[in-house]
Amino acid sequence: MVTLRDEDGQLLGVGKIVRSRSDLGQQFESLQHRIETLDSSAHRKDVFLSTLAHELNNPLAPLSNALRLIRLSVPDTKALEYPLNLMERQIQTLGRLAGDLLDLARIGAGKVELKEETVAIQDIVQQAIESASPLVRGRHHSLEVRLPPMPLFVQADPDRLVQVFVNLLNNAGKFTPEGGRISIEGAIEADEMVMRVRDTGIGIPRNVLPRIFEMFTQAEESRSHSQGGLGIGLAVVKQLVTLHGGSVQASSEGPGKGSLFTVRLPLPNPG
Ligand SMILES: Nc1ncnc2c1ncn2[C@@H]1O[C@H](COP(=O)(O)OP(=O)(O)O)[C@@H](O)[C@H]1O
Ligand SMILES: [Mg+2]
Repeated sequence: MVTLRDEDGQLLGVGKIVRSRSDLGQQFESLQHRIETLDSSAHRKDVFLSTLAHELNNPLAPLSNALRLIRLSVPDTKALEYPLNLMERQIQTLGRLAGDLLDLARIGAGKVELKEETVAIQDIVQQAIESASPLVRGRHHSLEVRLPPMPLFVQADPDRLVQVFVNLLNNAGKFTPEGGRISIEGAIEADEMVMRVRDTGIGIPRNVLPRIFEMFTQAEESRSHSQGGLGIGLAVVKQLVTLHGGSVQASSEGPGKGSLFTVRLPLPNPG
């Protein structure tokens, strides 16, 4: 509060200082300017990520082809088995990184449009297992699939839904020590399709769980197991599941006690 008096000390009035209209106008303009700057730097970051992802991804197909050519044309590759396998594995790792980056860029730009159709969850799981199996097989994990024999249908973009389970299975493979157990199961519960991906691996610390689906979150303990990861996979999983109208949840009894990821998808409307 301020009081206003004339030269003789007579009280003229009491009041609050308010900012003038032109002050507010200036503030508004400067805020607007900041928003525009942020928008344009976010946009440039998206463009950068997408360019980087494509540039990283482009050399991989020719490299894979060249490897195949060596295997086919060199009469005895036995002595080369070790370096060739190593190159193959590293190319796969780079492929996963570039794939994650591409997704991040696409999703960031709001460019993911689902091509939904009615698909059997059994086919989705089958395809996901085929993509994820090099990692699972490479580390001698056992993989158990529990799905009802009759087809269970969901309304989904098959490629995107496969990607969700590839990510979850790859994580289960990555974060489970040699010889662990991984399982994927699905069932209809109430009016939802519920899928569970479980492993007997290193588990997730309680303090990391609430942030696990955020971009770039990686538990300290898992860095050494991570064989090159950016912490993008689960963020992509969450975005894709949400786009399908579903939800995903992570739980773990704690370090060393394995992890469980539960994906819930709406069932197609009857009729
Ligand atoms: N099955 C799992 N078991 C233990 N930790 C996991 C599992 N899946 C994910 N995490 C944790 O969540 C983090 C983020 O996973 P993700 O987004 O797929 O990134 P990235 O695999 O590149 O590290 C991982 O770094 C790890 O700390
Ligand atoms: Mg991952």
